[in-house]
Amino acid sequence: MTEEVQRPSRLSRRRFLRLVGLGAGTLAAGGCGIVSTERREALSPASGIAEYELVAAPVSLRLGGREVSTWGYNEGLPGPEIRIKEGQTLRATVVNRLPEDTTIHWHGVPLPNEMDGVPDVTQPAIAAGESFTYEFVAEDPGSYIYHSHVGSQLDRGLYGPLIVEPAEETLSYDKEFVVSLDDWLDGMPGTPEDAFETLKSGGGAMSSMEGMSDMDMSGTSETESIPGASGESGDVVPAESPPDLVYPMYLVNGKPAEEPEEFEVRKGDRVRFRLINPSASTIYRVALEGHRMTVTHTDGQPVEPVEADVIRIGMGERYDVLVNADNHGVWQLGAQAEGTDDIARAILRYEGSSGEAPPPSRKPPELGGQMLLYSMLQAKPEANAPPEEELDEVVPVSLEGDEERYVWTINGEVFSEADEIAIGRDRHVRFEFENKTMMPHPMHLHGHFFRVDNGTDRGPIKDTVLVEPMQRLNIDWVSNNPGGWAFHCHNIYHQEAGMMRVVRVV
Ligand code: C2O
Ligand code: CU
Repeated sequence: MTEEVQRPSRLSRRRFLRLVGLGAGTLAAGGCGIVSTERREALSPASGIAEYELVAAPVSLRLGGREVSTWGYNEGLPGPEIRIKEGQTLRATVVNRLPEDTTIHWHGVPLPNEMDGVPDVTQPAIAAGESFTYEFVAEDPGSYIYHSHVGSQLDRGLYGPLIVEPAEETLSYDKEFVVSLDDWLDGMPGTPEDAFETLKSGGGAMSSMEGMSDMDMSGTSETESIPGASGESGDVVPAESPPDLVYPMYLVNGKPAEEPEEFEVRKGDRVRFRLINPSASTIYRVALEGHRMTVTHTDGQPVEPVEADVIRIGMGERYDVLVNADNHGVWQLGAQAEGTDDIARAILRYEGSSGEAPPPSRKPPELGGQMLLYSMLQAKPEANAPPEEELDEVVPVSLEGDEERYVWTINGEVFSEADEIAIGRDRHVRFEFENKTMMPHPMHLHGHFFRVDNGTDRGPIKDTVLVEPMQRLNIDWVSNNPGGWAFHCHNIYHQEAGMMRVVRVV
């Protein structure tokens, strides 16, 4: 069967299930080839509907010995892990106990437009004191994120992991850990809104001086290593761009580097890590001391397994990796915040190792090893690829910025003043990015997967792609999901400052 036939019918199935009441009870859990018992228990959905309640409310948390006030889901950080099975229906009721509007966006999940959680685009925002129930069938297994899509609420604690287990697990592994990376400033003191004001006024205490006032200059000393300077997607290791903001803390699973989470493994285990980056404005370089990683998925979609020492992960991106636990000891899983010396970290501890955890300042030497590049990724044949046929529409997408005024645009226009990008239904569309700035932009399209042109004919299938400074890069996708879809930079401050559009599939 060809893709062009298959994809629209997938969509009709999704719609159909929704209209007839979600096929509850008919979606049996498939067999799964997972070895560990702990995981088997976590995985037995009794019905076709998984219900969750997410209460968004102010919360006070202890982070590294200090008390911070923030907003979170169900009083935790991150929000509760949502774990459902392919084909199951997620029914999530969001109760808004915040002093302002909110929504939840199911980042990366192709779902019906009215469940996508973008205020004023797919739904009216959920007002303070109100609630809203999201309900959709999770058709595509993978590692996702859920997060608020209102203002800069993502830079508070309003995010969590969303894992859709495949009906039939094809990987075999013994243990699994979700690794959520977060850049933290809320309540330290100040809020994301304060940070945004600081950025707009061109400087400030929370920002790195090089990152802020010399953004124009920031890449110039590193020009020789900027990928795509010649117009090709890069084989070159990307330069470390100074970030817009240097945060006071970087967290793994809500824990600061001084109080890291410990992952326990046994020698001989095969371990799956789901690396997800719900940070508001930080790219990380992730390495596990003493081990190599085998990348199996990006943004939930399978790739041919490829080994690397370092995974560079932009805001909104996800990587699933497998690690052979064959090096007894206590090791740093370190995520260096790009452009800084700081790391977010967790500890990998082998059973029976009672040694001290490495200090927070210890960077895994593997950070200097081989970095995963998009050019090394090849989509597996079963990934959600667009058809290999003629293009129907080509849309130039120029990424620009006025760094002085902190205004970020797509094709020269800020979101509030721009028209929608209209696309016909079931078209093969190419977005041609041209990044005219010295910042990398993690560009995210809602409601669809796309193929990243990485110079091979089997580029990875993703929903968020890092477009490097001065790079030209193409993505191809099929407009098979009708509605108005947010399309934006996942640096939440760039998005707020205008780098967003609505792509309307009509
Ligand atoms: Cu994760 Cu529109 O975003
Ligand atoms: Cu950006």
